[in-house]
Amino acid sequence: MPVTLTVNGRTETLDLPPDMPLLWALRDGMNLTGTKYGCGVAACGACTVHVDGQAVRSCQTPLGDVAGATVTTIEGLGNPAALHAVQTAWVAAQVAQCGYCQSGQIMQAAALLAENPSPTPDEIDEAMSGNLCRCGTYPRIRAAVQDAALRLKEV
Ligand code: FES
Ligand code: FES
Repeated sequence: MPVTLTVNGRTETLDLPPDMPLLWALRDGMNLTGTKYGCGVAACGACTVHVDGQAVRSCQTPLGDVAGATVTTIEGLGNPAALHAVQTAWVAAQVAQCGYCQSGQIMQAAALLAENPSPTPDEIDEAMSGNLCRCGTYPRIRAAVQDAALRLKEV
């Protein structure tokens, strides 16, 4: 049975199996390839997207579970003409190295700041602890989240 959901502001009806992970529905069904596959078992955070504003691991989220939900991917967080504050902070801090983990990092950070606009360094580390980066960009991630928190207060 087709699954209808809203993705990046557009209502989509996908004729895909409801047990398909949301990650593959996004990547293969909608060509939204900014969301990455890392581990497939909810252990790395590369596949993080927002479902109704909450950061979720799309590799372990069945498509059928998000019927009727609002999904935001890295492609919908901001756009080149109007980046989200987290994206602006990421660029300013030149966080990315290989870049593979970064869309998941940014989506996790954006969800954190939506819930807690003034996180302490410990709260940032705690919130980001499930997002792994094999390039070791953690110090720049921490700094960029702090910068993004300031930028969001200026908006
Ligand atoms: S690919 Fe989903 S958490 Fe690693
Ligand atoms: S930037 Fe390479 S894995 Fe994070």
